[in-house]
Amino acid sequence: KRAKKPAGAPDKTLAKPITKIGVIGAGLMAQQFALLFVRRLKVPVVITDISQEQIDKGIGYIHGEIDKLLEKGRVSSDDANRLKALVTGTTDKSQFSDADWVIEAIFEQLEAKQDVFAEIEQHVSETAVLATNTSSLSVAQIGAKLAHPERLVGFHFFNPVAVMPLIEVVRTPHTNDETLSTAMVTAGKLFKTAVITADTPGFVVNRILAKLLGEAMHAVDTGTPFEVVNHALDPFGLPMTAFELLELVGLKVGAHVLDTHHAAFPERFFESANLHRLAEHGRIFDRDGKGKIKGFDKKAVEIV
Ligand code: 3HC
Repeated sequence: KRAKKPAGAPDKTLAKPITKIGVIGAGLMAQQFALLFVRRLKVPVVITDISQEQIDKGIGYIHGEIDKLLEKGRVSSDDANRLKALVTGTTDKSQFSDADWVIEAIFEQLEAKQDVFAEIEQHVSETAVLATNTSSLSVAQIGAKLAHPERLVGFHFFNPVAVMPLIEVVRTPHTNDETLSTAMVTAGKLFKTAVITADTPGFVVNRILAKLLGEAMHAVDTGTPFEVVNHALDPFGLPMTAFELLELVGLKVGAHVLDTHHAAFPERFFESANLHRLAEHGRIFDRDGKGKIKGFDKKAVEIV
């Protein structure tokens, strides 16, 4: 017998309305989900970052993607202008005072996230829901400096956000039903499938991916050439090879995810000094101007 709703999903009627959204961070993931929020919820979205340059980049990306939607005929020109006008950027977090939903996607460093949430709590209303897009840190620990940790939930998107259908909604021991319900209903409004996961390292998807990509990296670390490992899984019909996926995820994020898993389960996950070197180098593949892979980057092959 199929369950009507995911295990532990609370009553939808508890969900709070969302009339304004705050996004903390304007990096790769934040830009993509800020666009999704404005497109699907059609409410003001305010993006903050410590760097004005990064904010400008984020807004530039969103405008560019809205232009592509216009070219594909998926939004009208009036709608495109309206969506663009709904997205603003500022380094001033006091602009979040009337946001009902604030979601964070800064770099994966626990203390930085704890501090940013403690600061945000000074600006937002009592009833605002707070969410984090962390890849593999403990959501409960991220909320350790909050006065109201019951309003914090994990809301984990996958890259590319526009295409990947899943959101992991991470419930901590403190998350209350109103918060969880708001997260589930919001995921539905974004046309995503939401699953509720426990607050464990890597949740579900990244735990499995860390195994897959970690083993691929370990095979290279122990002497099998990149190109052999990269294509070994081709017969399984995955949409990307292991190292293409690692680059898509981001080499720094990938290294962080792997380290987090190694720290939590040292007997089950490897560390990889090579992955850190690759993250510093910035790429595994050599690509053309359009992003199409030409082959392995020579330097990347040299440094492993
Ligand atoms: N942004 C927006 N849209 C994109 C996109 C991007 N970066 N990449 C692809 N798309 C869209 C295209 O515009 C196209 O849309 P359309 O059909 O409406 O015009 C559609 O996706 C298909 O694009 P393509 O035909 O160019 O691409 P493919 O069919 O080769 O698919 C892919 C591309 C969807 C990226 C596919 O290769 C894939 O699913 N790869 C695996 C991705 C994955 O596993 N992601 C999870 C990473 S883990 C993670 O993010 C968690 C983090 O915490 C680490």
